[in-house]
Amino acid sequence: MGRDRIGIMGGTFDPVHSGHIQLAAYARESAKLDRVLLVPDGVAPHKLILTDKEDRWRMLEIACCQEKGIEPCRIALDREGVSYPHETIAMLEEAYPKADFFYIIGADAMMHLSHWRSLDYLLKKCTFLVAPRASSGEGTSREALKAFLEERRHLTEMGAHIQTIDMPLTDISSTLIRAVLAKGEEPRLLPPVVAEYCGVLGLYGQTARIPQGRVWMERLHADLTVKRFSHTLAVAYTARNLARNHHVDVYKAEAAALLHDCAKCLPLSEMQKICHDNALTPDALTFSSGNLLHSIAGSYLARSLYGVEDPDILRAIYCHTTGKVGMTALDMVVYLADKIEPTRAPYPTLSKVRMLAPLSLQRALLVSMEGTQAYVRHGNHPLHPQTERTIQWLRTLPENKRDEPRKAKSTSNDKGGSL
Ligand SMILES: [Fe+2]
Ligand SMILES: [Fe+2]
Repeated sequence: MGRDRIGIMGGTFDPVHSGHIQLAAYARESAKLDRVLLVPDGVAPHKLILTDKEDRWRMLEIACCQEKGIEPCRIALDREGVSYPHETIAMLEEAYPKADFFYIIGADAMMHLSHWRSLDYLLKKCTFLVAPRASSGEGTSREALKAFLEERRHLTEMGAHIQTIDMPLTDISSTLIRAVLAKGEEPRLLPPVVAEYCGVLGLYGQTARIPQGRVWMERLHADLTVKRFSHTLAVAYTARNLARNHHVDVYKAEAAALLHDCAKCLPLSEMQKICHDNALTPDALTFSSGNLLHSIAGSYLARSLYGVEDPDILRAIYCHTTGKVGMTALDMVVYLADKIEPTRAPYPTLSKVRMLAPLSLQRALLVSMEGTQAYVRHGNHPLHPQTERTIQWLRTLPENKRDEPRKAKSTSNDKGGSL
């Protein structure tokens, strides 16, 4: 078996942004790496770190969890004192004895390479992959980088292996992102889940949107898998935007979305115990399925563990799996946000529901539930009677009735593709 090719990106990741992920992806592709490790510093050599290391770590986890071959690595974060690259490499060598290492840096950092500690060691142990930067200073564009490397042939003579990464020039930086966040705006180049994490907690000079956010985040992070935690933040991000669109209470939508899956990672027996101990009486089908029962157990935990008293929030959590006749706009927002959040894997009706949701909650919900109905029928699974009844009810609503003639017409022209 060949040796693993591992890329390493150090930095404070304060916060991680789309530029980091893009650079890791281009480096992985261009140097044919098996994986790229994003290695946050505990204490950085020349930078004042602004944010708690566990917050930086969680933002990295959720930003990476959907990315193939890009992983966060805690090795420098858990080390006492300042994080120097040669020490990180030494620790990684121990952890991955059969790997070749590729150190990924921006052109601006490359300009100062001669000042790095234990440079001889680093040059011996790693190939350097250098990314051009658009506007981080004189001499960091692609051409200038080439000229720079030509001029510094002595690095090659010292045994350095340096390759440039062929990628579009970028000028995103965490400094820029922090400045935008401090103005109360949402930077375009921040992954939605990271933007949501920052907004809930009020990081980087923002006002915290959820007063209990710190306690909720700690608990959710402890009780959910990274993927489920990331999904939760993506649902909250989507619910907030949908709520704003449809004049629904934004706080309630965001709070319900944050807690909608708070019981999802419990074993089924635990969910059943919660129901049993608290005289909750779901029907037999719901009681036998974690995919259904987590909404009832979650609604209970939202009240008992997370301190939510608002009946609207609790009800939106309660009915987010099966739906309910008479769902309110808030219930619909949370149900739909769960189905269309940006990290959702594609399914047949996804793009149609995404397109409809900002326009009409009732129409989007009907298309979404009919899609679920078709999916479970196809797999010979039972559809929950509550969902059947909700579909019937949705079809009677004015917005869906208005759509009927058009729907009939388009169906007659349908070439058989799913919605
Ligand atoms: Fe759920
Ligand atoms: Fe969910």
